[in-house]
Amino acid sequence: MNDPRFRLTPAQAAELVAQFGTPLYVLDEATLRTKMGAYRASFEGRLSFAAKANPISTLLAIAHSEGFGIDVASEGELRAALYGGVPASACTLHGNNKSLAEIQFGLSVGIGEIVVDNFSELDKLERLDLNITKLLLRLAPGVDPVTHEKISTGQEDTKFGFSVSGGDAERAVKFCLDRGLPLVGIHCHVGSQLLEPSAQIAGGEALARFAVGMLAQHGWRCKVLNVGGGLGVRYFDEEPMPIADYCAAIVAAVKPILDAAGLDPVLAQEPGRSLVAEAGVTLYTVGAVKLAAGRRYVVVDGGLAENPRPALYGAEYAVERVFPLSASEEGEICLSTPNPLLSKERRGLPTRLSGRHCETDTLIEDVDLPDDVQPGDILQKLATGAYSSSMASNYNRYPRPATVLLRGATAVVIQRAETQDELLAREQVPADLLQTRERS
Ligand code: LLP
Repeated sequence: MNDPRFRLTPAQAAELVAQFGTPLYVLDEATLRTKMGAYRASFEGRLSFAAKANPISTLLAIAHSEGFGIDVASEGELRAALYGGVPASACTLHGNNKSLAEIQFGLSVGIGEIVVDNFSELDKLERLDLNITKLLLRLAPGVDPVTHEKISTGQEDTKFGFSVSGGDAERAVKFCLDRGLPLVGIHCHVGSQLLEPSAQIAGGEALARFAVGMLAQHGWRCKVLNVGGGLGVRYFDEEPMPIADYCAAIVAAVKPILDAAGLDPVLAQEPGRSLVAEAGVTLYTVGAVKLAAGRRYVVVDGGLAENPRPALYGAEYAVERVFPLSASEEGEICLSTPNPLLSKERRGLPTRLSGRHCETDTLIEDVDLPDDVQPGDILQKLATGAYSSSMASNYNRYPRPATVLLRGATAVVIQRAETQDELLAREQVPADLLQTRERS
């Protein structure tokens, strides 16, 4: 099977490292557009990109240019979309605890849709004087997907949405109908990094049956049925269902239930990870190689802050040495550090790829790297286009890395690295303490 993940050639990596340094997030525009095209070609309904996966304005602009709306989960993500030239009318506001200010901001810029999570939000919406835009209800369909518990969202015991089986979903429909709120549809998102579609199918079927029930009991016609995102990607050796098969499976499951009741809502999906993850890599420089307890530690200039997914979800990635600097064509960046680990008895040791943060931030537990890997070598970690830079932090006060977009042969910075000054700009030291510091 072809590897669906984008990877840099040694020459490309050498050029990027010389120009931008490491750590560096890299995205490939052609791969992004191919993934988006695959969804478009195989799904007749409406598509949105779940911005949380990587809400860089340029990326949102690319998604929009490919015919995608943008699913935003906060005012910040909405502003990133607007900054990228995406009209608010193409955006859907999500979130399970939207503030009044966030809702007002969304409405004031003309947000296309709001997906309502709970009764407090319905109360807020009812009390607003602003013209309310189209509403969808997020439902909890009671579907338990096979994935990490932290990214499993469709089950009964969840903070997300109105419970179908508990009756809240129906009460929410009634609430909207009684108050004349513009309810147009229903939504669910059952979980993420799902390699096969049974959970999304079950979620979609539950929505379809609910829509049929609401038509029968309250005469409410569902116009939009959104089954969320969730399709998984290859991080290590996973083999997720191809996009086309996945889309076909969902439509084949949901459509007949709707057709039988004479309902014809627009079907909608909002993938995140499966559009961007495999289009991205992260570049690191090896800073140290050491031995401890019969293990080789290879330490890079990234880790917990620039990608917390291994720590949060036990996520695994594939890492490759792109080139040893000592073998690079760029004479001026060659290092010729003698490597003390090349003696025969030190070959073939289990290797742990570690980060630079002040705790055991293992990037990869058992990584396959050559015996002669040494400080100065450049590594690329594959499939990091989703939920890496968007989840990055400043732990240990490291500025967050830049993201570069490859546009054919040209590399463009689409989000520059943070600076140390920007980190310090938030500090406000009380004057008396500053004086103390000056005296000491
Ligand atoms: N729609 C909604 C309402 C969502 O909550 C999500 C993801 C998506 C769509 C897109 O799901 P995707 O296609 O990307 O699976 N930080 C975690 C992932 C959290 C996903 C949250 N919701 C991770 O790094 O794995």
